[in-house]
Amino acid sequence: MSHPCKLLQGRVVADVILNEIKDELQRVRFQRSPCVAFLRVGNDGASVSYVAQKEKMARSIGIKSILKIFDPAKITENQLMEEIKNFNLDPSVDGILVQAPLPKAIDFVNVCNTIAPNKDVDGFGAENLGRLLQEKSGFTPCTPAGIVELLKFYNISPAGKHVVIVNRSLIVGKPLAALLTKHSLWGNATVTLCHSQSENLPQLTRQADILVLACGKPGHFDAHFVKPEAILIDVGITRVPDGSPQGYSLQGDANFEAVSPIVQAITPVPGGVGPLTVALLMRNTLKAFKLQNNFAA
Ligand code: GUN
Repeated sequence: MSHPCKLLQGRVVADVILNEIKDELQRVRFQRSPCVAFLRVGNDGASVSYVAQKEKMARSIGIKSILKIFDPAKITENQLMEEIKNFNLDPSVDGILVQAPLPKAIDFVNVCNTIAPNKDVDGFGAENLGRLLQEKSGFTPCTPAGIVELLKFYNISPAGKHVVIVNRSLIVGKPLAALLTKHSLWGNATVTLCHSQSENLPQLTRQADILVLACGKPGHFDAHFVKPEAILIDVGITRVPDGSPQGYSLQGDANFEAVSPIVQAITPVPGGVGPLTVALLMRNTLKAFKLQNNFAA
């Protein structure tokens, strides 16, 4: 019989977080609903679907959203920044999110740095990332914050453990390394940050007590990348064509069949980290709303 590995159900944890937000919005009689603005450039299938999920989730818990869509052939970096500046000045908008990826001609980091720090619900701007490194309060990027919530929910302490992250982006790898090395209860990990230039990757990933995969290589990580009894957090969500009516299925970076008999626990794809990213965005939006309306956040 195969090893009974535990499934880390991000969707369940996300529902707990979303219900807390919904309850607070119903319980406290705020004068208006929180509001988040989404800016999307172009019609990339995954981006369209992610923003739609964020809008739907916001609506279902009592958060308003505004969606602005731009033509990638027409919008310039400067024009996108002007749009952001308008939202920065708009007192009815609490949070601003620019969906990545952007067209090559627009620098995502420059764009993120234009968002007012107190409306930067993705936490990708220089001020919030700097504050994260300084261990000061601010907005924490949603996927890394979601991974920490997942570990908390399942009582998996990263303290003193070797966490190996295969991703060095501002969205996942770098902020997650900062979070997990904080001097705090759900930090204190030893972190190795790997990327496309890392030599002998399997030798590195096999050292992981907790392995975080986010490199968009569906099914790539098989048993020879994984230490027995490791915790595996799979952030990969790639659309793989499968001939179904939808045309694709979502696949993580781990070869689930191959690694699940070996690991102690694993996040499923879908239903793992994805829903947590959305839930933490809602939490950040509520926090932005409170900050701007002088409620304790
Ligand atoms: N693209 C993939 N993940 C994210 C995210 O968390 N935020 C934004 N803005 N874009 C993304």
